[in-house]
Amino acid sequence: MSVRVAILISGGGSNMVALADSMTGDHPARPCLVLSNVPGAGGLQKARARGIPTAVVDHRPFKGDRAAFEAELHAVLVQAGAEIICLAGFMRILTEGFVRRWQGRMLNIHPSLLPKYPGLDTHARALNAGDAEAGCSVHEVTADLDAGPVLGQARVPVKPGDTPDSLAARVLEMEHRLYPAVLRRFASGDRTPVNLG
Ligand code: GAR
Repeated sequence: MSVRVAILISGGGSNMVALADSMTGDHPARPCLVLSNVPGAGGLQKARARGIPTAVVDHRPFKGDRAAFEAELHAVLVQAGAEIICLAGFMRILTEGFVRRWQGRMLNIHPSLLPKYPGLDTHARALNAGDAEAGCSVHEVTADLDAGPVLGQARVPVKPGDTPDSLAARVLEMEHRLYPAVLRRFASGDRTPVNLG
Protein backbone atom coordinates (compact mmCIF):
# COMPACT_ATOMS: atom_id res chain seq x y z
CA MET A 1 0.00 0.00 0.00
CA SER A 2 1.25 3.47 -0.87
CA VAL A 3 1.54 6.17 1.74
CA ARG A 4 -1.15 8.82 1.20
CA VAL A 5 0.16 12.37 0.92
CA ALA A 6 -1.92 15.56 1.14
CA ILE A 7 -0.31 18.69 -0.29
CA LEU A 8 -1.38 22.07 1.08
CA ILE A 9 -0.99 25.15 -1.11
CA SER A 10 -1.97 28.82 -1.24
CA GLY A 11 -0.70 29.83 -4.68
CA GLY A 12 0.68 28.63 -7.98
CA GLY A 13 1.67 25.27 -6.62
CA SER A 14 4.91 24.68 -8.50
CA ASN A 15 6.26 22.68 -5.56
CA MET A 16 3.00 20.74 -5.43
CA VAL A 17 3.48 19.86 -9.12
CA ALA A 18 7.06 18.72 -8.48
CA LEU A 19 5.90 16.55 -5.57
CA ALA A 20 2.87 15.13 -7.35
CA ASP A 21 4.82 14.30 -10.51
CA SER A 22 7.51 12.55 -8.47
CA MET A 23 5.07 10.11 -6.87
CA THR A 24 4.98 7.46 -9.58
CA GLY A 25 6.48 4.03 -10.19
CA ASP A 26 8.25 2.55 -7.18
CA HIS A 27 7.79 5.72 -5.09
CA PRO A 28 6.41 4.72 -1.67
CA ALA A 29 3.74 7.45 -1.71
CA ARG A 30 0.90 8.80 -3.81
CA PRO A 31 -0.94 12.14 -3.66
CA CYS A 32 -4.42 11.77 -2.13
CA LEU A 33 -5.45 15.44 -1.94
CA VAL A 34 -4.38 18.96 -2.88
CA LEU A 35 -5.95 21.42 -0.48
CA SER A 36 -5.87 25.21 -0.64
CA ASN A 37 -7.01 27.92 1.73
CA VAL A 38 -7.32 30.23 -1.32
CA PRO A 39 -10.29 29.38 -3.57
CA GLY A 40 -8.63 30.67 -6.77
CA ALA A 41 -5.16 29.25 -6.14
CA GLY A 42 -3.57 28.37 -9.49
CA GLY A 43 -2.31 25.07 -8.16
CA LEU A 44 -5.83 23.68 -7.80
CA GLN A 45 -6.32 23.53 -11.56
CA LYS A 46 -2.90 21.92 -11.99
CA ALA A 47 -3.90 19.25 -9.46
CA ARG A 48 -7.24 18.61 -11.21
CA ALA A 49 -5.40 18.28 -14.52
CA ARG A 50 -3.39 15.49 -12.89
CA GLY A 51 -6.50 13.74 -11.62
CA ILE A 52 -5.71 14.53 -7.98
CA PRO A 53 -8.72 15.25 -5.72
CA THR A 54 -8.81 18.88 -4.55
CA ALA A 55 -10.45 20.74 -1.70
CA VAL A 56 -10.70 24.34 -0.55
CA VAL A 57 -10.91 25.39 3.08
CA ASP A 58 -11.13 29.17 2.82
CA HIS A 59 -9.81 30.74 6.02
CA ARG A 60 -11.72 34.01 5.55
CA PRO A 61 -15.21 32.94 6.70
CA PHE A 62 -13.63 31.78 9.97
CA LYS A 63 -12.71 35.43 10.69
CA GLY A 64 -9.66 34.77 12.83
CA ASP A 65 -11.10 31.72 14.61
CA ARG A 66 -8.04 29.61 13.89
CA ALA A 67 -9.25 26.66 15.92
CA ALA A 68 -12.42 26.39 13.84
CA PHE A 69 -10.47 26.80 10.57
CA GLU A 70 -8.04 24.10 11.60
CA ALA A 71 -10.82 21.76 12.78
CA GLU A 72 -12.25 21.92 9.25
CA LEU A 73 -8.78 21.47 7.72
CA HIS A 74 -8.20 18.44 9.93
CA ALA A 75 -11.59 16.91 9.05
CA VAL A 76 -10.94 17.23 5.31
CA LEU A 77 -7.47 15.70 5.67
CA VAL A 78 -8.78 12.77 7.71
CA GLN A 79 -11.62 12.26 5.23
CA ALA A 80 -9.02 12.02 2.43
CA GLY A 81 -7.07 9.43 4.42
CA ALA A 82 -3.94 11.59 4.54
CA GLU A 83 -0.97 10.04 6.31
CA ILE A 84 1.65 12.69 5.47
CA ILE A 85 1.05 16.41 4.94
CA CYS A 86 3.36 18.44 2.71
CA LEU A 87 3.02 22.18 3.12
CA ALA A 88 4.01 23.64 -0.25
CA GLY A 89 3.65 27.39 -0.22
CA PHE A 90 0.79 27.18 2.30
CA MET A 91 0.79 30.67 3.73
CA ARG A 92 -1.14 30.19 6.97
CA ILE A 93 0.54 29.79 10.33
CA LEU A 94 -0.74 26.64 12.01
CA THR A 95 -1.39 26.55 15.74
CA GLU A 96 0.25 24.24 18.22
CA GLY A 97 -2.93 22.17 18.52
CA PHE A 98 -3.04 21.34 14.82
CA VAL A 99 0.70 20.78 14.59
CA ARG A 100 0.62 18.38 17.53
CA ARG A 101 -2.04 16.26 15.81
CA TRP A 102 0.23 15.85 12.76
CA GLN A 103 3.62 15.99 14.44
CA GLY A 104 6.14 13.69 12.80
CA ARG A 105 3.91 13.48 9.72
CA MET A 106 4.05 17.07 8.39
CA LEU A 107 6.76 18.62 6.21
CA ASN A 108 7.28 22.18 4.99
CA ILE A 109 9.53 23.78 2.40
CA HIS A 110 11.00 27.14 3.27
CA PRO A 111 13.01 29.39 0.92
CA SER A 112 16.08 29.93 3.08
CA LEU A 113 18.93 27.98 4.61
CA LEU A 114 17.32 27.51 8.02
CA PRO A 115 17.94 28.44 10.78
CA LYS A 116 18.62 31.63 8.80
CA TYR A 117 15.60 33.75 7.88
CA PRO A 118 12.48 32.06 9.20
CA GLY A 119 9.31 33.91 8.23
CA LEU A 120 8.83 36.10 5.16
CA ASP A 121 11.00 38.06 2.66
CA THR A 122 13.80 35.54 2.90
CA HIS A 123 15.52 36.48 -0.36
CA ALA A 124 15.58 40.22 0.36
CA ARG A 125 16.98 39.48 3.80
CA ALA A 126 19.74 37.26 2.36
CA LEU A 127 20.66 39.97 -0.16
CA ASN A 128 20.61 42.73 2.47
CA ALA A 129 22.91 40.66 4.66
CA GLY A 130 25.39 40.28 1.79
CA ASP A 131 25.20 36.47 1.91
CA ALA A 132 27.30 34.63 -0.69
CA GLU A 133 24.85 31.75 -0.87
CA ALA A 134 21.15 31.16 -0.41
CA GLY A 135 18.90 28.17 -0.68
CA CYS A 136 15.95 26.27 0.66
CA SER A 137 15.17 23.83 3.46
CA VAL A 138 12.64 21.08 4.01
CA HIS A 139 11.85 20.56 7.66
CA GLU A 140 9.46 18.77 9.92
CA VAL A 141 6.77 21.11 11.16
CA THR A 142 6.74 21.78 14.88
CA ALA A 143 4.93 24.43 16.89
CA ASP A 144 7.83 26.88 16.48
CA LEU A 145 7.63 28.66 13.11
CA ASP A 146 10.15 27.28 10.57
CA ALA A 147 12.17 25.70 13.38
CA GLY A 148 11.51 21.95 13.19
CA PRO A 149 14.22 19.37 12.41
CA VAL A 150 15.77 20.02 8.98
CA LEU A 151 15.43 17.03 6.62
CA GLY A 152 17.17 18.55 3.63
CA GLN A 153 18.79 21.65 2.22
CA ALA A 154 19.83 22.85 -1.22
CA ARG A 155 22.27 25.71 -1.83
CA VAL A 156 22.64 28.17 -4.68
CA PRO A 157 25.14 30.99 -5.17
CA VAL A 158 24.08 34.61 -4.83
CA LYS A 159 25.20 36.34 -8.04
CA PRO A 160 26.22 39.97 -8.59
CA GLY A 161 23.18 42.06 -9.49
CA ASP A 162 20.72 39.58 -7.98
CA THR A 163 17.31 40.92 -6.99
CA PRO A 164 14.94 39.15 -4.61
CA ASP A 165 13.07 37.89 -7.71
CA SER A 166 16.12 36.56 -9.55
CA LEU A 167 17.35 34.85 -6.40
CA ALA A 168 13.88 33.43 -5.71
CA ALA A 169 13.77 31.93 -9.21
CA ARG A 170 17.18 30.25 -8.72
CA VAL A 171 16.14 28.90 -5.33
CA LEU A 172 12.75 27.70 -6.62
CA GLU A 173 14.45 25.45 -9.19
CA MET A 174 16.26 23.78 -6.32
CA GLU A 175 13.06 23.55 -4.27
CA HIS A 176 11.60 21.44 -7.07
CA ARG A 177 14.50 18.99 -6.74
CA LEU A 178 14.86 19.03 -2.96
CA TYR A 179 11.26 18.52 -1.83
CA PRO A 180 10.64 15.39 -3.92
CA ALA A 181 13.99 13.93 -2.78
CA VAL A 182 13.14 14.50 0.89
CA LEU A 183 9.57 13.22 0.55
CA ARG A 184 10.73 9.99 -1.09
CA ARG A 185 13.05 9.29 1.85
CA PHE A 186 10.59 10.44 4.49
CA ALA A 187 7.74 8.33 3.08
CA SER A 188 9.95 5.26 3.31
CA GLY A 189 10.75 6.04 6.96
CA ASP A 190 14.24 7.43 6.34
CA ARG A 191 14.96 10.80 7.95
CA THR A 192 18.58 11.07 6.84
CA PRO A 193 19.00 14.68 5.64
CA VAL A 194 19.28 15.30 1.89
CA ASN A 195 21.91 17.82 0.79
CA LEU A 196 21.92 19.28 -2.72
CA GLY A 197 24.04 21.96 -4.31
C1 GAR B 1 7.97 28.60 -2.47
O1 GAR B 1 9.11 29.35 -2.78
C2 GAR B 1 8.02 28.15 -1.01
O2 GAR B 1 9.31 27.85 -0.56
C3 GAR B 1 7.47 29.37 -0.32
O3 GAR B 1 6.41 29.81 -1.13
C4 GAR B 1 6.70 29.47 -2.49
C5 GAR B 1 5.51 28.74 -3.07
O4 GAR B 1 5.66 28.55 -4.45
N1 GAR B 1 7.04 29.06 1.01
C6 GAR B 1 7.11 29.90 2.03
O5 GAR B 1 7.54 31.03 1.93
C7 GAR B 1 6.60 29.34 3.33
N2 GAR B 1 6.84 30.26 4.40
P1 GAR B 1 4.79 27.45 -5.22
O6 GAR B 1 3.33 27.73 -4.88
O7 GAR B 1 5.09 27.71 -6.66
O8 GAR B 1 5.23 26.10 -4.76
